[in-house]
Amino acid sequence: MDHRQYSPSTARNREPILAVMRRIFPQIGKVLEIASGSGEHAVFAACAMPGLVWQPSDLDAEARASIASWIAHEKLANVLPPLTIDVREADWTAEGPFDAVVAINMIHIAPWEAALGLFGGAGRLLHRGGILFLYGPYKREGRHTAPSNEGFDQWLKARDPAFGVRDLADVTALGEDNGFALREIVEMPANNLCVVFAKN
Ligand SMILES: C[S@@+](CC[C@H](N)C(=O)[O-])C[C@H]1O[C@@H](n2cnc3c(N)ncnc32)[C@H](O)[C@@H]1O
Repeated sequence: MDHRQYSPSTARNREPILAVMRRIFPQIGKVLEIASGSGEHAVFAACAMPGLVWQPSDLDAEARASIASWIAHEKLANVLPPLTIDVREADWTAEGPFDAVVAINMIHIAPWEAALGLFGGAGRLLHRGGILFLYGPYKREGRHTAPSNEGFDQWLKARDPAFGVRDLADVTALGEDNGFALREIVEMPANNLCVVFAKN
């Protein structure tokens, strides 16, 4: 059965995200992707960076079915079968250490506990100097950076009051509390950011 899902946002953002990853990630290494969703980022990135072994994951069974179908369709040897990972749980099933942990469009579409779990788990599983790579919309100094992000924030909160566009300062502080240094912020199309941490 073909369970591949297609995310319209991935079609728009995968090229610019890949360009940042290519510059930052090692040529050879292991990457754990959290909240892989459809799996389109996983296969796109793994195809473009064949020296990386890409470990996708998601909490959701339909997402994992889509990821598995994308892997089968693309016939990529460097993408592993998807793992079940809920970042809020203490024991992730992934076998580290990893060179990078990636979470694209996750921390605003989940309760704040997911961000806490993400930094805690990435801290446990990354090498020293390893990268935690986040992508998504952020507030800066308490303010939205664009009306579209403010509208999106309202939409998220109507869906679940625990969801919402996070403030970059809160995420940076969370990183520091978990032994990460903010390494880079990259402005991306459509008022999104890549936020890159390195494990101390
Ligand atoms: C908006 S989708 C993003 C998917 C993909 N990263 C992308 O950009 O296309 C959010 C994803 O976060 C996952 N997710 C939500 N809460 C999670 C949690 N606590 N642990 C792991 N994944 C979670 C959902 O299952 C969903 O696949």
